[in-house]
Amino acid sequence: MKISTRVVLLALILYLYSMEECKVRCDEVLPSFSEPVPNVTIPAGRDVDIPCVVENLGFNRVAWIKVETKAILSIHDHVITRNYRISLSHVDSRNFVLHIKNVKESDRGGYMCQLNTAPMMSQVGYLDVVFPPQIQRENTSSDIITTEGSNVTLTCVAKGYPTPNITWRREDGQPIVSMNNEGQLENDSKMVGESLFLIRVDRHYNGAYLCIAMNGVPPSVSQRILLQVYFPPEIMIKNNLIGAHFGTTALLKCYIQALPFPNIVWKKDGKIISSGKKYEIDIPIKKYKIETVLRIRDIQLVDFGIYRCTVNNSLGQAEGEVQIYDIPKPTSVPTLTLPTLCSTTMETSSWNDIPRSSEPEKDHGYFPKESVQTAKEESSPLYDDTNIRESKSIKSEESMEASGGNKADSQSVVFSASVCGLCVVLSILNEVIT
Ligand SMILES: *[C@@H]1O[C@H](CO)[C@@H](O)[C@H](O)[C@H]1NC(C)=O
Ligand SMILES: *[C@@H]1O[C@H](CO)[C@@H](O)[C@H](O)[C@H]1NC(C)=O
Ligand SMILES: *[C@@H]1O[C@H](CO)[C@@H](O)[C@H](O)[C@H]1NC(C)=O
Ligand SMILES: *[C@@H]1O[C@H](CO)[C@@H](O)[C@H](O)[C@H]1NC(C)=O
Ligand SMILES: *[C@@H]1O[C@H](CO)[C@@H](O)[C@H](O)[C@H]1NC(C)=O
Ligand SMILES: *[C@@H]1O[C@H](CO)[C@@H](O)[C@H](O)[C@H]1NC(C)=O
Repeated sequence: MKISTRVVLLALILYLYSMEECKVRCDEVLPSFSEPVPNVTIPAGRDVDIPCVVENLGFNRVAWIKVETKAILSIHDHVITRNYRISLSHVDSRNFVLHIKNVKESDRGGYMCQLNTAPMMSQVGYLDVVFPPQIQRENTSSDIITTEGSNVTLTCVAKGYPTPNITWRREDGQPIVSMNNEGQLENDSKMVGESLFLIRVDRHYNGAYLCIAMNGVPPSVSQRILLQVYFPPEIMIKNNLIGAHFGTTALLKCYIQALPFPNIVWKKDGKIISSGKKYEIDIPIKKYKIETVLRIRDIQLVDFGIYRCTVNNSLGQAEGEVQIYDIPKPTSVPTLTLPTLCSTTMETSSWNDIPRSSEPEKDHGYFPKESVQTAKEESSPLYDDTNIRESKSIKSEESMEASGGNKADSQSVVFSASVCGLCVVLSILNEVIT
């Protein structure tokens, strides 16, 4: 009896001890998450996987729950939701990966991986669904035509998530001068904000403006808005007086600024000049700057006089005048009785022999001071009127150009002059001797 009581007691102690041991061991094998459920950012339309990795799951179960709606998406290996875009892969007892196909905005939010332990264990990962920027055409400015002095607002609206930033630039890279929300003028190569307030625009504002929308989700998008500032024609003549010799070619130039593109006509004595054998009219264009060149070949007596370039567009008209005058032949060298050598030398150096083809084509550009430095142009938004209809003076350089004079000729003149000096001395000696 005693022995059996002892055995029972021992068995009881062992049992209790093993119970105690089991309790410790059972605590050890409680399930746990081996990594956090990640936060995922993904552009709409793509597929996404949200993993939940569990250790020692045992007989516990794993559920996926949408945090905001509390909707149960899956329990263990069964998909509960009726959302056909959602599926689950449960390849082993560790990995429970929630797949969402063709992600939509409504999928944004928290995804909870829950274990039905007591107490419950869970982890949450957040899914962010982003949208690349998109220009809203109906709220975005289209091309604009206006006149100088008006105020213009360019607007560009873009949607996207996160909210896109709008940046403005000019296509030609020139700085933009616009008014900010505090009513101050700003001048920078790029501006930020949905609207661009252009105050009292002038011709320098002409061109394409680009609004670029970006929110960090590629691709960024841009919209091109063409601004045209119309103004009546203005004419600048740099050389109103052009000296020319018989038989040479004269170049008459008329610098125009006008928008819309004007009608340009050269006239002499009220008659319209057209291109042909005698005349050639060039009209190179650079935005609203136009340089028209009239070439008159083989100048004769009838060609001297006043030429007019008349220009008009829908906003007005302007006229410029250029006069060609005869540069008299140089007074001939005193005709002494010279040896034959001298007379032949004289002839080859005559002004009439200047080759007609010599017609230096310098690249003048238009309004050179401005166009060289485009940035500077921006600094004086008002058109520099002082340049217009001024400078009546003759530029010797230009008249040389018209006459076709060049270095080679002047050198030969000098040469022949010295030869002739020798001839004169020779002839005087001759006379003295005789
Ligand atoms: C996910 O984002 C939440 C806040 O939105 C943050 O508390 C959590 O630590 C993030 N999880 C991971 C895995 O980075
Ligand atoms: C964009 O245009 C729509 C319709 O024209 C209008 O209802 C909406 O308020 C506009 N949005 C903005 C930001 O101007
Ligand atoms: C243009 O805007 C300026 C500054 O806001 C204002 O003073 C001016 O009156 C406006 N001009 C026109 C024609 O609306
Ligand atoms: C948008 O502009 C704000 C303020 O200028 C800036 O903090 C933010 O980083 C910009 N976001 C993007 C996507 O460029
Ligand atoms: C402008 O020129 C065109 C063609 O030369 C002519 O038909 C038109 O009447 C002119 N307009 C003005 C306002 O002079
Ligand atoms: C704008 O800035 C540029 C260079 O930063 C400068 O050359 C130009 O004069 C400025 N224009 C105006 C109107 O302030």
